[in-house]
Amino acid sequence: MSEPKSNDRMEKIVSLCKRRGFIFQSSELYGGINGFWDYGPLGAELKRNVKEYWWRCMTQHRDDVVGLEASIIMHPRIWEASGHTSTFSDPMVDCKTCKGRFREDQMSSTSCPQKPSKMVSECHGEKTEARPFNLMFKTYVGPIESAENVAYLRPETAQAIFVQFKNVLEVSRQKVPFGICQIGKAFRNEINPRNFTFRSREFEQMELEVCSKPDEVGQKNGAPAENADRSAPQPNWGWNEWHKYWVEERVKWYESIGLGRDSLDFYWQKKEELAHYAKATVDILYKFPFGTQELEGIAARGDFDLSQHQKFSGKPMEYFDDEVKAKYVPHVIEPSAGVDRLILALICDAYREEQVTDEKGNAETRVVMKFHPRVAPIKVAVFPLLKNRPELVSKAVEVRNLLQPHMSVFYDEAGAIGRRYRRQDEAGTPFGVTIDFETLGEKGPELQDTVTLRERDSMAQTRVKIAELPALLLGKIR
Ligand code: GAP
Repeated sequence: MSEPKSNDRMEKIVSLCKRRGFIFQSSELYGGINGFWDYGPLGAELKRNVKEYWWRCMTQHRDDVVGLEASIIMHPRIWEASGHTSTFSDPMVDCKTCKGRFREDQMSSTSCPQKPSKMVSECHGEKTEARPFNLMFKTYVGPIESAENVAYLRPETAQAIFVQFKNVLEVSRQKVPFGICQIGKAFRNEINPRNFTFRSREFEQMELEVCSKPDEVGQKNGAPAENADRSAPQPNWGWNEWHKYWVEERVKWYESIGLGRDSLDFYWQKKEELAHYAKATVDILYKFPFGTQELEGIAARGDFDLSQHQKFSGKPMEYFDDEVKAKYVPHVIEPSAGVDRLILALICDAYREEQVTDEKGNAETRVVMKFHPRVAPIKVAVFPLLKNRPELVSKAVEVRNLLQPHMSVFYDEAGAIGRRYRRQDEAGTPFGVTIDFETLGEKGPELQDTVTLRERDSMAQTRVKIAELPALLLGKIR
């Protein structure tokens, strides 16, 4: 069956997200609030699996990265030091006719911005001059709404890592090069939130700040050869090698959760596009139905942030490197991924419509979410073949109880077995276990205590001993 066109496809994905409980509009009961989203039962599991896997890969599978969980509201001087107070803004224009407010860089000369085509025909109104609009959400700390009590919801998680660098260094007994990572909420008062959750006002980031020796220190005895192996970190790596290494590490990570290289693309930012702190940035892009867009930015931030905090706080951020007997401010490589964008990419990637034949031989369309088993919200569904046969039901409950301590299990006894499979296909559940008459030993003693294991993608069914199920499934979902 031909794949739906990109807009149709996006509409179907948005509708499935709501229907199956992946993503809901925030505050829907009150008409919604633009740029904010809630994750339903399946979405919350998916998101949690992705974050936990990222965290495990960063902090448990590596010796050179430790974690941090910092507060969202921090001292406002931090945002002065980082440059966010003065430069974290988008050019904004107002339309004098429709009173809309738009990002200047997303507008054509004659019309209102990209997405809502009705606005284009509606409004060719005169626009005001562009003026900067700071994207940070402002609030007040304490009961008095005065200038000295102004604080901001963090627009990135990274700055907390920089300001806690010394504390983390001291307690973790790490040595440069090493990294500090964090997962958490970030807030940006985007002028035009759009493309479902892609550009939101509240979102989550998974960020890593890798501190390394400045090139002149690390490469005192020579830089790595052009053809040197770049797959494992070396003591003489400069920022360029670290940067390339982390781009490759991150791509491998995306592959490990099912986003193949062919679904990704790369964009090396041009000099004039770089953020004020960056020496170089590579964006890892995903081919969304609405266009190829950024999933993660991997920036070489040099010593900008640590030096700025040293300057603004008056406290030293230098590190004494006893290997080379030198003191320096470390240089930083930052892989910074958006959780919500990744969830959207995983959902878009997983969505498939397939033409299949049902039990009665009729053609039907199967909607299936082909999530990688590692991130799938539910790992296995357990079905008694018939709900009016107590022996089948009690055996199925036994199997559910056996699996539940190890993984997320969904138990379903309602409706024809084919319908139950379809429901789990839409939820993206990679495995289905059916307890049938063979399980009860009614078709021969050799089949007693075996179940039908159905694999979502191939729909292949095999017989497996109940006792072997936990190890078999765990091997497939980790
Ligand atoms: N600390 C660096 C930093 O924050 P960024 O490119 O502005 O860099 C990093 O953001 C990632 O955060 C992006 O690649 C994207 O995945 C995510 N992100 C940024 N703004 C977002 C928004 N408004 N909605 C959803 N995700 C966003």
